[in-house]
Amino acid sequence: MCGIVGYVGPRQSVPILMEGLERLEYRGYDSAGVAYIQDSNIRVEKQKGKLQVLQDALDTVEISSTVGIGHTRWATHGAPDQTNAHPHTDCEGNLALAHNGIIENYSNLKKDLIEKGHSFRSQTDTEVLAHLIEEYRGDMLEESVAEALKHVVGAYGVAVISREEPEKIVVARSGSPIVVGIGEGEYFVGSDTAALVKYTREVFYLEDGQIAVITADEARTFDVQLESEVESDKHTIPFDLQRIEKGGYPHFMLKEIHEQPTTLRDAMRGRLLPEDANVRLGGITDVLEEIENADQIYLTACGTSWHAALIGEYLIEEFVRTPVEVEYASEFRYRNPIITPKTVLIAISQSGETADTLAAVREAQAHGALCLGVCNVVGSTISRETTAGVYIHAGPEIGVASTKAFTSQVTVLTLLTVLLGRRNGLNRANGERIVHELSNLPQKAEQILADPEAIEAIAKEFSDRPNFLYLGRRYNYPVALEGALKLKEISYIHAEGYPAAEMKHGPIALIDDDMPVVFIATKDKSYDKVQSNMEEVRARNGRIIAIATEGDEEIRELADHVIYIPETESFLIPILASIPLQLLAYYIAVERGCNVDQPRNLAKSVTVE
Ligand code: AGP
Repeated sequence: MCGIVGYVGPRQSVPILMEGLERLEYRGYDSAGVAYIQDSNIRVEKQKGKLQVLQDALDTVEISSTVGIGHTRWATHGAPDQTNAHPHTDCEGNLALAHNGIIENYSNLKKDLIEKGHSFRSQTDTEVLAHLIEEYRGDMLEESVAEALKHVVGAYGVAVISREEPEKIVVARSGSPIVVGIGEGEYFVGSDTAALVKYTREVFYLEDGQIAVITADEARTFDVQLESEVESDKHTIPFDLQRIEKGGYPHFMLKEIHEQPTTLRDAMRGRLLPEDANVRLGGITDVLEEIENADQIYLTACGTSWHAALIGEYLIEEFVRTPVEVEYASEFRYRNPIITPKTVLIAISQSGETADTLAAVREAQAHGALCLGVCNVVGSTISRETTAGVYIHAGPEIGVASTKAFTSQVTVLTLLTVLLGRRNGLNRANGERIVHELSNLPQKAEQILADPEAIEAIAKEFSDRPNFLYLGRRYNYPVALEGALKLKEISYIHAEGYPAAEMKHGPIALIDDDMPVVFIATKDKSYDKVQSNMEEVRARNGRIIAIATEGDEEIRELADHVIYIPETESFLIPILASIPLQLLAYYIAVERGCNVDQPRNLAKSVTVE
């Protein structure tokens, strides 16, 4: 996903812009650029490729500037090249603009602007906005921006500077996040807080339909039509730079995998009530009764978060007995779902900015459903637009492949299940048992993470295979899906997850000695059935990697490789079993020389549809 940064104040702007873009690299990009004001002129430097290419170009020129914007681009319209990189300027080079989102009506606007004499350099939708602002040039930059945005259909987060008002940055938002950092006599702009946390932890978030006019001395927010000024709530960012740095690990992903004992503790901190055989989730106290009386719960998400939702479905239906449907957010919002006043929708999103998930929330809210958010990023759009919710407290997740957020999402969904279950028939003894075992998980996760070398060795043996199959049953079926997604998104190996029993309905045709099959074969109700599935794979020369329960010697007869995890409740296995699968994917990707933290074509948060 693209990233925007901006600075206005007494300091040199370009080094701050570049530092901010570095903090946004994890979002995925293919080109980058900065625009800054020097001697009342707009200067633009942009390059295809990584930030170092841009920095090398900047090092060749004398720069003295205190106002600027920057952008990392994840191509949507137009090839990832220097011409299409942002920032873009108007015909005369009087203004420059960086944009996140998609302008859906850009081709009609472009046609109209060309007829009016504007000349374009790029194939992007963004450049259209620069010329539109030029076309509607008013006395103040914010007036031109506001007028131009009236004609735009689509999503945007935009930052604009002008040589005619060289001490000003104008930002506006509709669907793509913009956060403003408040400094002492200086202001910072970012697509997310990681871009500015080095300089300030005091921020405010632009809401959809708002525009802000920022100078070194003040930041004033208005509705996008500039009809009324609004007071933005100030927030303090809950994390500092140390938590963003790699901490000595070669990749953010590996650091985040190893953070999981801590993040599991953080997900449960202050929430376990062993003395009551219950849990406390302060963020939903006010709506607990409404959730309890729901006639239908939708869990909606994308990608890994959707896998967490699947586990949530199994949990809630098993222990709360409320019907649950898991929906891909992108499907939910367009299929005219059945929503009644007793419908509850829970959106699960690490970033809290995924466009499809946000749209699903808005769709459900428009039809009267109670919407909750299970998010990681504090102050994210989904967390702010839902009525209530639960933060997972996993800290910044920089690696594009979600790991610690997933296990914390599942943990929070388990806590929610206990809370609802204890009001709907989950007795004290069972509540006590679950709460107690939850408190053991961080230490069990530590045990798994203590021996990554064994997993690394397995990864080396199979890193050249073109395809993988992941199989599991019941709670471990979503784990199979998640394990497959981890592998495919960072190693580019094709991998599929299936319910183990489904193998006989097609996938078994794929089995041969070149197709590694990963079984989540832990001791639970379906263990015997999974063993039969393993026999079927072995009979066809399939190579088996098994995730198994510590102490299970029997499994060694069936699997080529066994990765053990500590025993736990069957419905808590996903939190532990997914950790070795994260490591397996990580080490295979490293062995294949892939860009683990920023896999090709992927973005950390998909804020476009
Ligand atoms: C997971 O590893 C992927 N990066 C991706 O599937 C991700 O889970 C999905 O885009 C949803 O993101 P969100 O949780 O921020 O909404």
